[in-house]
Amino acid sequence: MLPKGRKSSKGAHIISILRCPVCQKPLLPTADGYQCAAMHSFDAAHQGYVNLVLSHKKHSKEPGDDPEMIQSRRRFLDLGHYRKVSDTINETIRAVLSDLGRPSDCSVLDAGCGEGFYLQRLKASLTHGSKGQPQIHYHGVDVSKFAVRQATQRDRTMAWFVASVNDLPFLDASLNIVLSVFSPANILEFARILKQSGSLVFVSPGPRHLNGLREIIYPITKEHEAPSITDKAKELFSLATISRITYPLELKDNQTINDLLAMTPYYWNINRETKAKVAALDRLQLDVDIEIRVFYKNCCGTAMKEKLAPATDSKSVPSRS
Ligand SMILES: C[S@@+](CC[C@H](N)C(=O)[O-])C[C@H]1O[C@@H](n2cnc3c(N)ncnc32)[C@H](O)[C@@H]1O
Ligand SMILES: [Zn+2]
Repeated sequence: MLPKGRKSSKGAHIISILRCPVCQKPLLPTADGYQCAAMHSFDAAHQGYVNLVLSHKKHSKEPGDDPEMIQSRRRFLDLGHYRKVSDTINETIRAVLSDLGRPSDCSVLDAGCGEGFYLQRLKASLTHGSKGQPQIHYHGVDVSKFAVRQATQRDRTMAWFVASVNDLPFLDASLNIVLSVFSPANILEFARILKQSGSLVFVSPGPRHLNGLREIIYPITKEHEAPSITDKAKELFSLATISRITYPLELKDNQTINDLLAMTPYYWNINRETKAKVAALDRLQLDVDIEIRVFYKNCCGTAMKEKLAPATDSKSVPSRS
């Protein structure tokens, strides 16, 4: 059995399901952060997160989203434009937990958590009316320290880490649910850290996501293809459900349109003229089209496929894989 969690001196809930990024031994909480049996230690920053990225493993000086992108994302998300997406994610995870038999001492990871919007709302949703229910431990990981810093401001009681999805600082078979929202995914790592009955909830753009913006950027707008994870996951996971959320969105001010652009990969891919064209807009009508896939680790995939109902305010669609 893994050691139980405890409160750090900074107030964050720390659970010893962590793995030392240097020697892969368990990381145990100390007064200042974490330490493994081989004495590799990692101090918590004063904001309350712990940086577990080893400097020689960084691919750039400041990997992940930069402070400007994080601020744009926070402003945009706090306006509530993706609240429906977050609500559907929460309903999906509620259904997954129920099918897992509401495990005691349940651990959830948001892998590529950004500035913490989805994990904070997940916690608020699952905590609501949960008196007497088993405790859930929430973990958020992002390779951008700027993102994680912002995330700690949303909720310091959750465990936030700077780390890469390619080298997740968790012990094998230690988590019940991995959530991945519009972030890079490493299917092998997800399979490694999930328990036998664990589930991956994978959120990605649907075929028409951000049409309206994309039509301004590209002369011909192609539909988004099914995410490559569907193929990569085949051997390790079973796809249980796909839910799709679609709704029109009208953005009515220049700041919000620019914030949305800065949240997308288009920001880096478009030329200066196109960027200026979008930057000058005061109104934009677009489609939100998001898919949520629930995968189970293969040992129990078939059983779960039969048991799990789709999220209530979304519809199931056939897999495009
Ligand atoms: C499109 S954003 C999504 C953030 C958040 N899930 C959301 O939807 O608001 C992608 C995030 O992945 C992070 N990221 C990029 N590469 C990563 C990696 N290798 N490991 C962990 N996070 C990564 C970025 O820093 C960024 O915060
Ligand atoms: Zn170590």
